[in-house]
Amino acid sequence: MALHEKETINKNFLDDVYASTDLSVRMPKHRFPEEERNPRHVYQVVHDELMLDGNSRQNLATFCSTWIEPEVHQLMNECIDKNMIDKDEYPQTAEIEARCVHMLADLWNSPDAANTMGCSTTGSSEAAMLGGMAMKRRWRDGMHAQGKAADKPNMICGPVQICWHKFARYWDVELREIPMESDRLIMTPEEVVKRCDENTIGVVPTLGVTFTCQYEPVNAVADALDHLQNDSGLNIPIHVDGASGGFLAPFAEPDLIWDFRLPRVKSINVSGHKFGLAPLGVGWVVWRDKKDLPGDLIFNVNYLGGNMPTFALNFSRPGGQIVAQYYNFLRLGREGYRKIHQACYHTAAYLTDEIRQMGPFKVIYDSRGGIPALCWSLKEDINPGFTLYDLADRLRSRGWQVPAYSMPANREDLVIQRILVRHGVSRDLGDLLLDDIRRCVNYFDRNPVSVPLTEETAGGYKHS
Ligand SMILES: Cc1ncc(COP(=O)(O)O)c(C=O)c1O
Repeated sequence: MALHEKETINKNFLDDVYASTDLSVRMPKHRFPEEERNPRHVYQVVHDELMLDGNSRQNLATFCSTWIEPEVHQLMNECIDKNMIDKDEYPQTAEIEARCVHMLADLWNSPDAANTMGCSTTGSSEAAMLGGMAMKRRWRDGMHAQGKAADKPNMICGPVQICWHKFARYWDVELREIPMESDRLIMTPEEVVKRCDENTIGVVPTLGVTFTCQYEPVNAVADALDHLQNDSGLNIPIHVDGASGGFLAPFAEPDLIWDFRLPRVKSINVSGHKFGLAPLGVGWVVWRDKKDLPGDLIFNVNYLGGNMPTFALNFSRPGGQIVAQYYNFLRLGREGYRKIHQACYHTAAYLTDEIRQMGPFKVIYDSRGGIPALCWSLKEDINPGFTLYDLADRLRSRGWQVPAYSMPANREDLVIQRILVRHGVSRDLGDLLLDDIRRCVNYFDRNPVSVPLTEETAGGYKHS
């Protein structure tokens, strides 16, 4: 190599990353790149672009974990190369997944927690699909056993997260979603029973409705279905969508009866990455009893080096999230989860009181009887000079994401704003947010919006 080439290479090596040739040109956006690049430069470019995503800790719309302990980062790193589906190659990850299932079954009072069935998933959406599929299969087998047609399945629920709309459409099930009515924003036993018939594969109450964060009355619905069975012979199971509540109620409200203590509750899904405090990418579905999961939904695979049963929609997936969930179970136990969630409930109650006192807001949900969260609308009889869409938009200038959105059928007229108080939303952070909300309200008082933002002009918020 000629000396001047060596010098050029040496100089390039010493270049400041922003003085490098890579960063002085545009990076490819739509065409597959031709050449290699220096990893340090590429890291900086990608890292810088991600700054525009905003700060997840200030995203008060999400239910998902945005604060993670350093030990979890370390375990995730150690598991980055482990495929959880290769149960023969990574038997300890498989063992840890099974332990988590049994710990959850125990937490939810399964009569035989050590032997029941369940699995990890990518989140509640996949878990809901699996729970729904099992309900449909059990119903179909029951109809066939009676010599009846099984071609018009339906499922009953309150206002559900989009995953249940997907389940219904992908698996050809009629969704009988109970519409909201006036101040009733969740299901009631009466509304459920009205919609039941012999084609009902199951009822799905949500423990922590996505729109308002309230718990649906699982116990009362189970009671009503018991009466229905006495009167009509219809035996309709319950699957609880406990995406958030499944990791809240057992710690914060242990006396609330919603889980496998009710024999009619056959399966439960939960998001590990929400109030389970695991990093993004893990959910769980657990059946009350082995016999509640139809055996023909389980595949046995032998090409991974052993004969392994699998029940999942996807295949390869990193093992880290499962390991991190197990870490949390050991690290926190019931005591730790209770302390963290109670701190969130206290902060949510504090925020509710402050929001109520500001003047223009009517509190719709105050963190009692559901998720540690709050939501409010604008009072009906005032004109504060802004819509909640305007307020959400202005709060974004300080980095806060507090979306405004309208309710589903039949309360599309009701627009609300919601704050999720998760692990890491401290009292101080809450105070900073309140200061900014007050500042915005004062600003709009002095400068009323002449063309207020609406759902259409603000760009729709999607629930995650
Ligand atoms: C009640 C409910 N069910 C299901 C889901 C979907 O959960 P995931 O994002 O874990 O797939 C959500 C998400 O917010 C939810 O609130």
